[in-house]
Amino acid sequence: MKKVGILLVLLALVLAGSVPALAAGKLRVATDATFPPFEFVDEKGREVVGFDIDIIKEIGRRLGMTVEIINTAWDGLLPGLKTGKFDVVIAGMTITDERAQAVDFSDPYFATGQVILVRPDTTDIKEPADLKGKVVAVQIGTTGHFAAQKIQGLKRIDTYDTYPAAFLALKMRKADAVIADELVAKEEQRANPGQVRVVGRPFTVEYYGIAVNKGRTDLLRQINRALALMKADGTYDAIYEKWFGAE
Ligand code: ARG
Repeated sequence: MKKVGILLVLLALVLAGSVPALAAGKLRVATDATFPPFEFVDEKGREVVGFDIDIIKEIGRRLGMTVEIINTAWDGLLPGLKTGKFDVVIAGMTITDERAQAVDFSDPYFATGQVILVRPDTTDIKEPADLKGKVVAVQIGTTGHFAAQKIQGLKRIDTYDTYPAAFLALKMRKADAVIADELVAKEEQRANPGQVRVVGRPFTVEYYGIAVNKGRTDLLRQINRALALMKADGTYDAIYEKWFGAE
């Protein structure tokens, strides 16, 4: 009997040990909810919703964890991850070499690229080279910002804390164009008929990834496994359909 008891205690310890540290049950997810349709505050419910939110909630469900969404400024996302304020960041965040030096990214979960957004009356901007002499608005520290920095001869790059602020500058004629992620630019066009227009095709190739702090290999592995299963069993497609089905 004694031996069995000891064995049971040992078994319990082994099981407990094998449950990763994150099994506290809560996944703290940070995002910058100014990026519809990936993450935004729903006007009615005052709730953070979007494609990314559905993806991470489903991942959390599969990991047996409750997902807590923390809505915070873009420039606080990776620093907060590094200092352990959050467990993951999902924010339409492009996997870049530079960011990958600071944090680890999941397998890509979305492919996209940068596009140019103008006012409908603008006829002389069709591709990045046409932005010569123009004022371009972007969200600071984004791949749209980095893409703008690579274009020769811009008059100016105006940086804003959020994309909605950059879009507003365009509508108010403070900027000639915005460079932004394709589906966010298209959503802005859809929501503001006759006020802004996406021109041309994406001119960069980018992939969104879910970021975790370096060293959280267990969490990362679990996220990747959940993502792969979601892609295989149609859950990913259903979420995609919900947000982009009308495309
Ligand atoms: N994909 C771009 C980047 O990684 C823009 C992301 C902006 N996301 C947001 N939630 N504001 O730089």
